[in-house]
Amino acid sequence: MSGRHIGLAWLVLAALQLSCEPRPAFTRAAIDAAPILAHAPAGFLLGAATSAHQIEGGLDNDWTEWERGAFPDGRPHIVDGSVSGRAADSWNLWEEDVRALRHLGANAYRVGIEWARLEPTEGAWDEAAAARYRELLGALRASGIEPMVTLYHFTLPRWVSSRGGWAGWDGAPAALERFAERAGAAFGDLVDTWCTMNEPNVLAVKGYVQGQWPPGEQDQKRMAAAFRGLLRAHGLAAAALRRTDGIDADGDGAATWIGLAHHVAAFEQASWSPLDGVITGLTDAFFNDAVVTALRTGRIRVSVPGAVELDEPFAPLLGSIDWLGINYYTRHHVRADLSDPSLSRQFVPEGRARNDLGWEIHPEGLYRFLLRYSRQGWPLIVTENGIADASGAERPRFLRAHLYAVDRARVDGADVRGYFHWSLVDNFEWAEGYTAPFGLFRVDFSDPERVRRPTEAVEVFREAARALGLSPAD
Ligand code: GCO
Repeated sequence: MSGRHIGLAWLVLAALQLSCEPRPAFTRAAIDAAPILAHAPAGFLLGAATSAHQIEGGLDNDWTEWERGAFPDGRPHIVDGSVSGRAADSWNLWEEDVRALRHLGANAYRVGIEWARLEPTEGAWDEAAAARYRELLGALRASGIEPMVTLYHFTLPRWVSSRGGWAGWDGAPAALERFAERAGAAFGDLVDTWCTMNEPNVLAVKGYVQGQWPPGEQDQKRMAAAFRGLLRAHGLAAAALRRTDGIDADGDGAATWIGLAHHVAAFEQASWSPLDGVITGLTDAFFNDAVVTALRTGRIRVSVPGAVELDEPFAPLLGSIDWLGINYYTRHHVRADLSDPSLSRQFVPEGRARNDLGWEIHPEGLYRFLLRYSRQGWPLIVTENGIADASGAERPRFLRAHLYAVDRARVDGADVRGYFHWSLVDNFEWAEGYTAPFGLFRVDFSDPERVRRPTEAVEVFREAARALGLSPAD
């Protein structure tokens, strides 16, 4: 056999081996038959997630400004014309949120602190707001619920956005660093698990390529600049937390355990066309790998052929995370479209299970991402996963299927340390306003009391909590 033939035979064998690799079945029967989280290790974090802007209410930041605006064609920025306003009123009803978490049997809660609230003008610090957050964090600890605190979840104080935000102000990363320093000092005795920021890739795309979020731009170069600013901010903020939070709040020997919540989406090429293949690969590389590669290599790289070639070192990224957070919701099919700023059109084929926003429900995608990123060497935490489901009828099956994905990934070697369901309560879903209820607990936004009402999935969550030896409250 010539070398070429040997090469070919090897490829065929490798392909056969790949296709024979045992993959867990994601059939309904297999999912229903599997005991929930049977392979979770001791200390596995089971919780729910929220962000400050989406639940607190009463805020003033770049988003509250954006919410009042409209696109050039007259459509309001927020699809239902709403503003975040009082949201779920968690600023006042935080004890109800803690009660809901106790009812779930959660041992962890991913919650945001609002930069614009704590530092309303540059260098200021709102002691009263900090004291309120301390009440919440203390109540969580007293209930055996480990707080995971997100510093930056999409919203900027206006004194940062008005100077140009992530793409336009070189001082923005250092501003987040100073905020992290103060947060570490103010809350470090109650918090060990920190999430510096949420989904830099999503913000870069929605804010600077699709123009759907503030600042509403469509420019690949600005996208790359924002992405660079965000990653620099993460690196500086992580170091700041390590400097200022020296107190081990949970007694496990470490004062900080720091990560970042990274949004991943599965991309499937729409056809065998080579162009669809290339664009799918590029989309996957930027959207799913750029953040992770930067964290691993300490270099910020963005390549959009013909538009951007960014490649520069930023040393603080190295060693900046102790765990990698994975936010996973869906899969997109990708068809190349070079006239679109994202170079593609993405869609869900007919007949697939979807949530209320039309996103495909694809639990196997979570399993695959957990295996894919476990190779990077960090422990993984599912920092978000959930379903927009107004009826509440699909969420129990969704939750069970994704917990199954986590458990199977553990069996197959992924070091997954936690799962946070998005979300604890219905909330303000960014450009979708109040049209997309993700909560384990329902909130009726026309109800002045904002009562939290359990959806059917709460029982599945409680079952998972009991499987971990936790004791959900009545
Ligand atoms: C995001 C955020 C959340 C969303 C959630 C549902 O992914 O955009 O982290 O704030 O509300 O993902 O879309």
